[in-house]
Amino acid sequence: MRTQVAIIGAGPSGLLLGQLLQKNGIDNVILEQRSGEYVLSRVRAGLIEEGTVGLLERAGVRARLHREGLVHEGIEISFGGRRQRIDFRRLTGKAVTVYGQTEITRDLMEARSTTGAPTLYEAAAVSLHDITSERPRVRYRKDGVEAEIQCDFIAGCDGFHGISRQIIPEAAIRTYERVYPFGWLGVLSDTPPVSQELIYVNHERGFALCSMRSQTRSRLYIQCGLDDNIEDWPDERFWEELKLRLDSVAAAAIVTGPSMEKSIAPLRSFVADPMRFGRLFLAGDAAHIVPPTGAKGLNLAASDVYYLSQALAEFYETKSTRSLDTYSARALARVWQAERFSWWMTRLLHCFPQDTGFDRKVQRAELEYLARSVPAQTALAENYVGLPY
Ligand code: APR
Ligand code: PHB
Repeated sequence: MRTQVAIIGAGPSGLLLGQLLQKNGIDNVILEQRSGEYVLSRVRAGLIEEGTVGLLERAGVRARLHREGLVHEGIEISFGGRRQRIDFRRLTGKAVTVYGQTEITRDLMEARSTTGAPTLYEAAAVSLHDITSERPRVRYRKDGVEAEIQCDFIAGCDGFHGISRQIIPEAAIRTYERVYPFGWLGVLSDTPPVSQELIYVNHERGFALCSMRSQTRSRLYIQCGLDDNIEDWPDERFWEELKLRLDSVAAAAIVTGPSMEKSIAPLRSFVADPMRFGRLFLAGDAAHIVPPTGAKGLNLAASDVYYLSQALAEFYETKSTRSLDTYSARALARVWQAERFSWWMTRLLHCFPQDTGFDRKVQRAELEYLARSVPAQTALAENYVGLPY
């Protein structure tokens, strides 16, 4: 098989890139190691910046997003038994939209199937070849049969554990990493949201976050230990612990119910530099990870894909590699802004086990400052709604 761009991975990055390339008349094939159902069973964050909404619209998935997405004009930060609202609309003129990543993935999958562009699910043993030549190849096995795709470019959209980043020789890539000494225990439940807006909680028992998927479905998180197991957290214990971390008004508003999904995720910051090797371009989680505290993962994937789709469109229109050559630097400039913000939000709101009394006082002083200072709130809001690109 021959195509212009072979895309590895059918997560949000690969699917969005595929759609944007289709719109530019660029042929592409997506190879995904899992089944479509498996990809749709993963529960992930669901908060998107206006820039991401714009890209999804361009990708042809406007309707359900605008029908079901919840527009949020602010968030609340809870500490010391009270809540401080950060008013995005007033401070930045912008808002964010709550729309689950699973729904985005489903919409992109459906849009792709109407274009007829191929997605090869359950492609095993995917391997990349000749990536420093002008004719790279991707080999894979499907239904027991070995096959090969010849292409002009490969987009590595295969997430943090994918193969794309790993085939780049060590001497050609530098990685930066921070692993946090706690995780998030996340619960999805068919219960009404605790509040109309997201509540991010700093509490001496640990961080908590009350988010939602709809007016009848909540997504809730609490900071937990890295060694905790799901079995340690029956539903009753989860709800009890969440209540202990909320202010009294929010705690009284909780409606409990059975969890539909429960999982523990570690928190990590990670960046690979450069995001390109020869004709292989990395995008999304394949190149970088942020802790979920600022909800930047999906939005960063979207800005990478925007830069990459533009650069590929320019190449096919003009034969110029100028934007392909600057892709990594452009994407990384935005990535590091989001890395800084996600690290800062994480640092501000969590209990770090090694913190001294001094560290805790400084953290509290920063929260007090945030509650008092409009410039401090503006800095948070500007980053949360998404820096321009
Ligand atoms: N061959 C083919 N596909 C692969 C391979 C491989 N060797 N390795 C991984 N994949 C697939 C995975 O099964 C997954 O479907 O690549 C896809 C990567 O998707 P994501 O992990 O969702 O990464 P990305 O599309 O970059 O999405 C970024 O998702 O993880 C969240 O927080 C993150 O919101 C962010 C967004
Ligand atoms: C979510 O709704 O899953 C969510 C929202 C905001 C975050 C992280 C996760 O910062």
